[in-house]
Amino acid sequence: MSAAPRAGNGKITVPDIVEHKSRRSPGLSSSEKITCLTAYDFPTARILDDAGVDILLVGDSLGMVVLGYDSTLPVTVDEMLHHVRAVRRGTRRALVVADMPYGSYHTSLEDSVRTALRFVKEGGAEAVKVEGGERRIELIARLTEAEIPVMGHVGLTPQSVNALGGFKVQGRSEDAAQHLLRDARAVESAGAFSIVLESMPREVAARITDELHIPTIGNGAGPDCDGQVLVIHDVLGLTNGHTPKFARRYANLSEVIARAAAEYCDDVRNGRFPSDDESYHLSAELRSRFLAKQRA
Ligand code: KIV
Repeated sequence: MSAAPRAGNGKITVPDIVEHKSRRSPGLSSSEKITCLTAYDFPTARILDDAGVDILLVGDSLGMVVLGYDSTLPVTVDEMLHHVRAVRRGTRRALVVADMPYGSYHTSLEDSVRTALRFVKEGGAEAVKVEGGERRIELIARLTEAEIPVMGHVGLTPQSVNALGGFKVQGRSEDAAQHLLRDARAVESAGAFSIVLESMPREVAARITDELHIPTIGNGAGPDCDGQVLVIHDVLGLTNGHTPKFARRYANLSEVIARAAAEYCDDVRNGRFPSDDESYHLSAELRSRFLAKQRA
């Protein structure tokens, strides 16, 4: 595992993210929103880090977009750790946040802290993310106490897909909106340094953003949040099937990859790849000896 670069050299730290809301921090200009994208592997992390993304979230969405599961529920701690390490190796400037997968913080507090410590010690993550509001108060407090910065996550929490009855926008009724507000307050009061607001009406996210002192990172929560996060496979056009309306696509890499693969197959089948220039050669002297022996 490569060591995380020290602060003071442009590295984004947890305090940079927290202070972003209240005052100008050296890493981030306060007028700018916080940018966050998911990353699951070394080359993508390197590219996103070089592009200036502030936070790389190794989301458990990797279960769906990388591993082909139907939901995030099957993702294991070991699968997450494998990808967190790869992202850590590719990241110099961005803050690396590891998602704690379903089941890894749902039993005892002791086990949850132990698992979160693995993400920091073995994975090189600088923070962890946990889903849930009021019911996570104790957990968030314990993790924070153990010096593990926590990013909260309320609204549509995909690990609750069975309890919620599907991937549905949350907070649409007065009661539900008030519930989200209470959840967000609880996450902040427990000590989280930031919070993801997923799939909720813009107005609700704006109210939460206004009230909280920690930055809100929107994912389908409108433009008033302090920052935004998207799944990189959606951004790059690598997902197929339904994507939510907020998942703006900035490229169509599926098309680029399919075209490159088709051209490669065509070149191989028609003898255009590899060319002589793309082949290794014997020295002239060895070649004539070798060919002479072959003819003899
Ligand atoms: O798992 C994930 O990628 C996430 C973000 C979409 C917030 O939780």
